[in-house]
Amino acid sequence: MDCLVCHDTTGTYKKAPPGAGMPDEKVDLKHVAQNVGHSSRASCGSCHFNGGGGDAIKHADMSRQLIEPGRNCDIHMGGYDFSCAECHKTRNHEISGRSSSVPVAEGEVSCVQCHSESPHYSGGFLDHHLNTHSKTLDCNVCHSPVYAKCQPTKTWWDWSKAGDKNRKPVNDKYGQPDYNWMKGEFKWEESAVPDYAWSSGYMNRVLIGDKVDSDADVINLTEPVGSIKDPGSKITPFKIMKAIQPIDAEHDYFLIPHLFPRDKNDTTAYWKVLDWEKAFQDGMAATGLEYSGTYKWVETWMYWRLEHEVMPADMALSCVQCHDSLKGEKTCNRCHQDNRDIDFKKIAGKGTDFSLMKSEGRDVGHLINKTDYINFKALGYKGDPIIHGGRFKKLPMGYKEKK
Ligand code: HEC
Ligand code: HEC
Ligand code: HEC
Ligand code: HEC
Ligand code: HEC
Ligand code: HEC
Ligand code: HEC
Repeated sequence: MDCLVCHDTTGTYKKAPPGAGMPDEKVDLKHVAQNVGHSSRASCGSCHFNGGGGDAIKHADMSRQLIEPGRNCDIHMGGYDFSCAECHKTRNHEISGRSSSVPVAEGEVSCVQCHSESPHYSGGFLDHHLNTHSKTLDCNVCHSPVYAKCQPTKTWWDWSKAGDKNRKPVNDKYGQPDYNWMKGEFKWEESAVPDYAWSSGYMNRVLIGDKVDSDADVINLTEPVGSIKDPGSKITPFKIMKAIQPIDAEHDYFLIPHLFPRDKNDTTAYWKVLDWEKAFQDGMAATGLEYSGTYKWVETWMYWRLEHEVMPADMALSCVQCHDSLKGEKTCNRCHQDNRDIDFKKIAGKGTDFSLMKSEGRDVGHLINKTDYINFKALGYKGDPIIHGGRFKKLPMGYKEKK
């Protein structure tokens, strides 16, 4: 990468898309060079907000909104004006932080490098339980209960439908188009509930040339490695990007099409000639892999971890939002005997204020009063752990479900 893309402070430095990374001819390079400075949310975001070819397409938790985010959108970057590099500590240009999609890492970034494994110390009555939960739940399960809360993100992308120049795009309820002749058919989501899965921090990935099971219903391009039985795994929130993509029907590896015309004389680019065969021949030649001449479309899922857009502490999920068993009159008293004059029901029931979010225009009406936020059964529990036990132990008091 060139230096200016990260160190520009003027906001005028741009690359020209067909120029293979070269700066746009219109940029005043002298002006930009005289105004270099620290990297910023805008300079790092000039690439990362646009992963997938546009704002908020692949990453559910990064978009242009993070340049000047509101407090509820991202507490660190909005509330406390963090730059990216404040968390992604950088030494000798090794930028820390592991990616969901690429197996390259220059160090890890995690919440506990600044907070701790027991981060709840407000002195409140919930501290004890919140800290024991942090052994099983990734921080963002509670602290980022919905994704794409600042800007809708693409969740479905069907490449096989591309090529119809006559099809008119229809905008969805978020104002996002359902079609683009260059790219195919889309679905978008805003303030969506994540998919939860056990994760040890490692990912399985399909890379260029890897053989896959082409008859599978779904091929996971990335997926977390983890299990309820592994003490090192935690329940972790993800956005799953679902898509229809092309695969070589004989070689069983994914095909890389040549999309963007190199110049006026280009005769193979899909976005010029709308011919997948030519686009695959050319694209695969560039990767050094053979294209057999037959292709088929398969469904792919890609798990993207949610690490940004942490909400303020008072917007975290709390007890009743996950434990239906704590919904009734008795909350803490169900297990603790406490004669103090404290409204435990209120404390346990506070949590994320979806009514407030709805009043601010977010699509979360259906989440108000929800008491089964994460699906315990889908994660391998018999049901609510308060009743059926946690992954390694049952509660000592042997609480039994009322008939
Ligand atoms: C991918 C983004 C990126 C690119 C590309 C990049 N830098 Fe940096 N650079 C950083 C970050 C992050 C830091 C840490 C401080 C900060 O946030 O600006 C940094 C720090 C620096 C520093 C300060 C070093 C110090 O020890 O304080 C200098 C000087 C610098 N970069 C020069 C360059 C030059 C010259 C190039 C091109 C050869 C370059 N950078 C390319 C991101 C980048
Ligand atoms: C010119 C485009 C560009 C800029 C600017 C840029 N990045 Fe990246 N970055 C990439 C690409 C491409 C990847 C690899 C694919 C991916 O993970 O999305 C990457 C990967 C990463 C990763 C994942 C770990 C890894 O090594 O793969 C982190 C974290 C990251 N960048 C942070 C930053 C930060 C912080 C800045 C600003 C200092 C920055 N990037 C600026 C393009 C860019
Ligand atoms: C409050 C801390 C924080 C801030 C601020 C922050 N990040 Fe991150 N970011 C993280 C954490 C934690 C991860 C997970 C990294 C890991 O597991 O090693 C991450 C992961 C990433 C990844 C990899 C994502 C994936 O799953 O593939 C990229 C890219 C990235 N950050 C870019 C950025 C950019 C660009 C900015 C600024 C606009 C930024 N980050 C600001 C904490 C932060
Ligand atoms: C580079 C250090 C750093 C990293 C990494 C970091 N934080 Fe923070 N965080 C802070 C600081 C500083 C504050 C503000 C002071 C405070 O409340 O402790 C803060 C505040 C918070 C708050 C309270 C916000 C409020 O005022 O309501 C929450 C919740 C939080 N962080 C969660 C997280 C989560 C979850 C992660 C991982 C995705 C994370 N933090 C990563 C430094 C960090
Ligand atoms: C089970 C849900 C849950 C998990 C898991 C969780 N938190 Fe919290 N967190 C909360 C709630 C709820 C609050 C508000 C506490 C209150 O109202 O007393 C909070 C408050 C905080 C605060 C503000 C300071 C304080 O003591 O109130 C910080 C900082 C914080 N959490 C960071 C983290 C980090 C970092 C992790 C992961 C290591 C994490 N949390 C895991 C639910 C959770
Ligand atoms: C995001 C969902 C979520 C939230 C919010 C949540 N829990 Fe839990 N809770 C769980 C999960 C998952 C387990 C199982 C942990 C295990 O496997 O050890 C659990 C287990 C428990 C247990 C039994 C086992 C144990 O180790 O203590 C109690 C008691 C409990 N929770 C109380 C609470 C209280 C009190 C709160 C509010 C401070 C709360 N929970 C908030 C998901 C949640
Ligand atoms: C399903 C049973 C259960 C429920 C409901 C429950 N707790 Fe607990 N709590 C326990 C157990 C068991 C312990 C003992 C330590 C452990 O195993 O985590 C404990 C420990 C504690 C502790 C630390 C030890 C102490 O007694 O000072 C506090 C504080 C606490 N709970 C507060 C609460 C509050 C507040 C609520 C309601 C929001 C609540 N608990 C709901 C089972 C429960």
